[in-house]
Formats: sequence, C-alpha cells, structure tokens
Amino acid sequence: MNSSTIAARLLTRQRLIGRVNINNSRLVQRTHSPFLRTGSVGTTRTIITAAKLEAQPIMTKPPPPPSKDNETKAQNGNTGFQRFSQFDLTGKVFIVTGGAQGLGLEMAEALAEAGAKVYCLDRAEQPDPTTWSQALKRVPSSSGGSLHYREQDVQDTSHLDELIASIATDNNGLHGVVAAAGVQQLTPAMEYKPHDVARMLAINYTGVFMTASSVARQMYKHKTPGSIVLIASMSGLIANKGLISPVYNSSKAAVIQLARNLAMEWSRKQEDGTGGVRVNCISPGHILTPMVRKNFDEVPGLKEKWEAENMMGRLAETREFRGAVQFLASDASSFMTGGNLVIDGGHTAW
Ligand SMILES: NC(=O)c1ccc[n+]([C@@H]2O[C@H](COP(=O)([O-])OP(=O)(O)OC[C@H]3O[C@@H](n4cnc5c(N)ncnc54)[C@H](O)[C@@H]3O)[C@@H](O)[C@H]2O)c1
Repeated sequence: MNSSTIAARLLTRQRLIGRVNINNSRLVQRTHSPFLRTGSVGTTRTIITAAKLEAQPIMTKPPPPPSKDNETKAQNGNTGFQRFSQFDLTGKVFIVTGGAQGLGLEMAEALAEAGAKVYCLDRAEQPDPTTWSQALKRVPSSSGGSLHYREQDVQDTSHLDELIASIATDNNGLHGVVAAAGVQQLTPAMEYKPHDVARMLAINYTGVFMTASSVARQMYKHKTPGSIVLIASMSGLIANKGLISPVYNSSKAAVIQLARNLAMEWSRKQEDGTGGVRVNCISPGHILTPMVRKNFDEVPGLKEKWEAENMMGRLAETREFRGAVQFLASDASSFMTGGNLVIDGGHTAW
C-alpha cells in the first residue's frame, strides 16, 4: 500500500471516529493514544470548539465496587482506617460519680469501651460484687480501657477535691467527668422539711457543682482539655406526671443552668494551654435503674403511667445512653458546649 492510500484510509478512519456537532459548532473526537489501552481510564476525549481546545478524561467503565475483601480489611484495621476515630478515648482518663450502679456504671463502661481509664466514685465502700464483676467482664480487653473503683461521698467536698487531684496526679492529667451521683425523694411539697431540701441539693446540685469544679481545676493545672458531662433529667424541664418530687426536679433544672454557666467560663482555649473544657448535660427520660425500681415499689401503677407518657410507650434501658456519653466525652462533639441532650423517648416533645 502506497503512502497516499495509507493517508486516505487514515483520514476516513478519523472521520468515522470523529463526530461533528453542528448545533454546538464543535468537533468531539476520540483519540486513541498508542500509549494507552482502548477502554482504559486514560483514554481522552478531545472537545474542539471554535474558541478553545479541552481535554477531558472519559470513564469508559464505571469504577468497580469495593470488594468484600476491602471491606473486611477496613474493619479489621489492616488498612490503617479506624472506624469511629472521633469517638476514640484511648489514653484519656475520666471520673464518673455515682459509678457503682445504674446509669453511672453504664456510662463508665461505655467510656472504658471507647478506650478510657475510668474511675468510678460512689458512696458505698465497695460496689456490689456481682454488679461490678459483670461490668468488668463487659469491657472488652481489646478496648484498652479499664474500670477502677474509689469510695467517695460527693457531699464530702474537701475529700472529693483531694481524691480528684490525686487521680489527676497519678495519671498526669484528667480529661473529664460524668457527674451522675444523684438521689430522689418522693414527698409532697407541703410536707418537705428544710433538712431534706438541703440534703437533696447537697448531692444533686452542690455535689455536681463541686465535682465539676474540682475536675476542671485539674484539667487546667495539667493542661488536659476535655469534656464534662452533667447528668440532669427531663424532670429539670417539666413537672412530670405522677412524680411528686419538687426538690429533685428543681435540682435538675439547676444542673441544666449550671452547665451553661460552667461552659461559658471554661470552654475557650487559652494561649497558655488551659481551657478547652466543654460542659454539657444529658437529660434522660425514665430509665429502668435501681432508683426507678424503688419509685415503682413506692407508687403502685407508676410504671404503667410512665410507659404511657412517652411516644415509644416504654421505659429506657441504661445501655441506650452509651452512645450519648461516648459522643459528649469525645471529639465527636468538639463544637458542642453549654448544651443539653434530651433523651426521653419523646416524653417532653408532646
Ligand atoms: N433512672 C432514671 O429514670 C433517671 C432519669 C433521669 C436522670 N437520672 C439521673 O441519673 C443519675 C443516676 O441515676 P440512677 O437512676 O442510675 O440511680 P441509682 O440510684 O441507680 O444510682 C445513683 C448512684 O449515685 C450514688 N450516690 C447517691 N448519692 C451519692 C453521694 N452522696 N455520693 C456519691 N454517690 C452517691 C448511689 O450510691 C448510686 O450508686 C442520677 O443523677 C439521676 O438523677 C435518672
């Protein structure tokens, strides 16, 4: 074949491949580079317009979906990818008051599961052995977290301060607290005695306040920013039906307001490395805990009444608050402070 025949054939081929778009006055042409395989991602489409020449990549095949093998690797960490990394509390040290049982212990477990070293403080000399050993078993050894117990009544605020300081010293810092120690008393308002009011507030308000301020002092001293979570209640927002507890409800309202003020004082990071202490509340609805079981013993029909009062028609389990505390204690909530997370099955929403 002579050179003029080759040239003519090439010209015909170019015309067959090329397409003139008369409406847009442009030529769209596929160019097959000798260095690229037809159909590969590297094949280019040249768009020639009167004004300019553009080269755009053509995806002749959609990218393959991630294989099952890749998904397995992502989960087992072989790829360096870490699921839920913002929730990771590895190397962090937390205190949980009221940590011998109920909601406090469940939250301590959740923090340990996320990798934290957690000190549970409670007024009992020792936690119930069965409850405690079950909690220890539930913290997976692979989490790197751990649970520790210390006897402490939050009303003894000077010893509380010393204990918190010693925990911070032993661990070169402290990254937060969950203040869950609280008591309930069902008494009609006209029968309330001043000493009962004082005792309720000493635990539910002053105890929470002094716990938070002792922890914040250590976080400032060691320059270990973090998160303070105060356990309030939906009872701080409403007078919930069937619960004759004027002081409890007022104490929880005070805790919600306290969180806003502490957040205002401590949240901003300072140039000297102090600050950065976020403060938020969790306000649960009715949860099945030893405290609430006692309420049911005292008030016949209360369980059924409470179940009917929320949109889900049931009470909460303590485990339903694990995610909330992992969120608030970790970087997952890094822009949240002065807030109140209401988790009540819709009780206060209608
Ligand atoms: N259970 C609910 O429905 C519910 C709802 C909203 C808020 N809350 C709040 O959650 C927190 C935990 O409650 P819970 O239901 O698990 O009750 P709980 O009675 O089972 O646990 C409370 C823990 O606090 C401890 N505590 C009480 N006084 C203390 C003190 N002076 N010093 C140290 N520890 C003390 C108790 O020993 C106990 O271990 C409380 O603040 C409570 O008000 C509970």
